[in-house]
Formats: sequence, structure tokens, C-alpha cells
Amino acid sequence: MNERSGTLELEQISVVFRNKKQTIDAVRDVNITIPTGTVFGLIGYSGAGKSTLARTINLLQRPSSGSVKIDGVDITTLGQRELRQWRRKIGMIFQHFNLMATRTVEENVMLPLLHSGLSKQEKRQKADRLLKLVDLADRKDAYPNQLSGGQKQRVAIARALANDPQILISDEATSALDPKTTQNILHLLKRLNEQLGLTIILITHEMEVVREITNQVAVMDHGRIVEQGPTTQLFLNPQQPLTRELLVDGDQGADEMATLIKQYTAADRSLVSFTYREQQTDLFTLLKTIEQWVEKIKLVYNNTQRVENQLWGTAVIAVRDDEVANLQQHVAAHPAVVANKLLKEVD
Ligand SMILES: Nc1ncnc2c1ncn2[C@@H]1O[C@H](COP(=O)(O)OP(=O)(O)O)[C@@H](O)[C@H]1O
Ligand SMILES: [Mg+2]
Repeated sequence: MNERSGTLELEQISVVFRNKKQTIDAVRDVNITIPTGTVFGLIGYSGAGKSTLARTINLLQRPSSGSVKIDGVDITTLGQRELRQWRRKIGMIFQHFNLMATRTVEENVMLPLLHSGLSKQEKRQKADRLLKLVDLADRKDAYPNQLSGGQKQRVAIARALANDPQILISDEATSALDPKTTQNILHLLKRLNEQLGLTIILITHEMEVVREITNQVAVMDHGRIVEQGPTTQLFLNPQQPLTRELLVDGDQGADEMATLIKQYTAADRSLVSFTYREQQTDLFTLLKTIEQWVEKIKLVYNNTQRVENQLWGTAVIAVRDDEVANLQQHVAAHPAVVANKLLKEVD
């Protein structure tokens, strides 16, 4: 039970809140499988049900129906005692760090070890090891109010790791931090994922971060998962309008792109965008190849982004209307190109 496996399966999870006045279907029929060692992004607007779903994973919120399986064991069927054991497999961090103000950093990290059976000395050693892991060894005797927000979150992460969990849930843990600190914390999480094989479930608004450090993404809307899959696939080829809205349109390139589309609707041209692997080709070479087949193309936009640690280029080409089909056919056949799309037909 102490090995770091921890495949998580959520099956047909629903959560219904009822009070006198109304019934809220906060989570509806959610099915998610998260293999060990995955960084799994959960995104969606406020009120979508992300936190409620995340809380069902350690049964802080009992689902109204459905099962939560960790390594094949349905933990919704366990008694209190067994459940307590399994809960240790799951750590959680939040926007509010919930540190104890009257305890030192080291003591805060030792708190979850209260019933661990370790001696005081062993607890201290473990806390110190964890603080080293999050780069805070030198602040172990400080009190929380002597720390910056980023440092407090590091303490909270160390504390969440105290019982060697296999799964770490981060629910908007960086929402109160400035952008640079956010980046640091998220890269720390990625490092822990890699060093410890820790599965991380990341609820965040930071789409750049989703793009960089997650392997899988699920998009939630009104309690349902509307789209899920490998991060690269969702970024480069979103199927649902909401996915596009959250992941793609929020990007810096979107405004620029909209201006271009407007500008080029004036001419007798169409715009075709395509995405290609930068490891396989550079844009110049790619355009040279395309120019052998298609006349009078004009590059109007080019952007590079990092998704799941690979560089992807997005280019937009203006082309004569009667060449659109020809262009699309040839870019689609190019080995480095993964997707292409007619952006705007000009009439
Ligand atoms: N304990 C609760 N009692 C009643 N309604 C709740 C409770 N927790 C959450 N909700 C409702 O469930 C829906 C989903 O909330 P939440 O999971 O917090 O969404 P998110 O984390 O995506 O912002 C919202 O409509 C919210 O008001
Ligand atoms: Mg929430």
C-alpha cells in the first residue's frame, strides 16, 4: 500500500446538493481515468463543479452515486478505519494555505505525522527532508507570518506530502500568488511529479501552465466533462467551443489572429492556418515546399508555443480562393503538419 502506484478511476460520479429551495447537480456522470504519474489538468469556469469533483477523490465529498477507485479498490465501500488509511494516499493543497500560525514551518509539516507511529526525532527528520525537497530547508524555524505567499504554499506542499501520498490535488493553489511565484510553484509541482512519480490533479486558471505541465486535460461545464484527452490534442485540435474558448482564445495570439482575419476579408483571399512540429521542420523550409505546389501564398501570421514540452508552430497563410483546396491538400500531406483549417472564406 505504500508503493507509489495509484491509478485513479472515477466512474459515473454524480454529486447532488439539496436544500429546501433547490437541487444543484454539481457533478454529473463524470468518468475519468488518471494513470499513475500523470499531471491532469481540470479546467472550467467558476461554478463548473471542479472543486466538488476533486473533493470526491478523497471522499471529503461523498458522491451521490458512482465509484472512486484507487488501484482498483472502490474506496466508497470502505469503513472509516480503512478509509483513513487510503486517504493518506491523497494530499491536497488550496488557495488558502491553512498553516498554523503558532507553529513553526517544521512543526506544520510534522502535523500530519501525528498518528504515523514515528518517533519525534523521525518526524523531524522527515519534515526536514520534505522541506529540503521544496527548497525551504533554511526556513524551518520560521513562523508562517514571516514567509511570503510562495513560501507558505511550499510549506503547504511539504505538509501535503508528509504521508507519502500517491496523488496530490491542487485546487487553485496558485490563485493568490503573483505570476512569477505561480510559475515557480507549478514548476515545483512538475518536478515532484517527475522525481516522485506523483500523480497531480491540477485545477487552475493558468492556461499557460496547463499547456506546459499537464499531460491530460478535462474540461468541465455545468457538472459535466465536455471534453478530455491528451493536452497536446486539446490545445491543437479542440473539439468543443468551450475548450477552444478556455485554452486557445485566451491565448495572446488570439487578438492578433482576429485582426488578421478582419484585414484579409477585404481581399479576394482565404486564410488557412496550420500547426506543425518545430522539431521536424522550420517554417522557411515548410513554406518553400508548399510553394512548389501552390501559387501566391503569403504568410500572415506565425507563432510558436510549447505544449507538453514540445514546440509547435502555428502559421496562417493567405491564399487565393481558388487555391484553398490545393493548399489544404498539400499541407495535410506534409509529415510535420498535424492539423490545418480554413479560417475564413472570403466572398
Ligand atoms: N456544499 C455545497 N452545498 C451546496 N451547493 C454547493 C456546495 N458546494 C458547491 N456547491 C455548488 O455546486 C456547484 C459547483 O461548485 P464548485 O465545485 O465549487 O465549482 P468550481 O470549483 O468549478 O468553481 C456550484 O453551483 C456551487 O454553488
Ligand atoms: Mg473551485
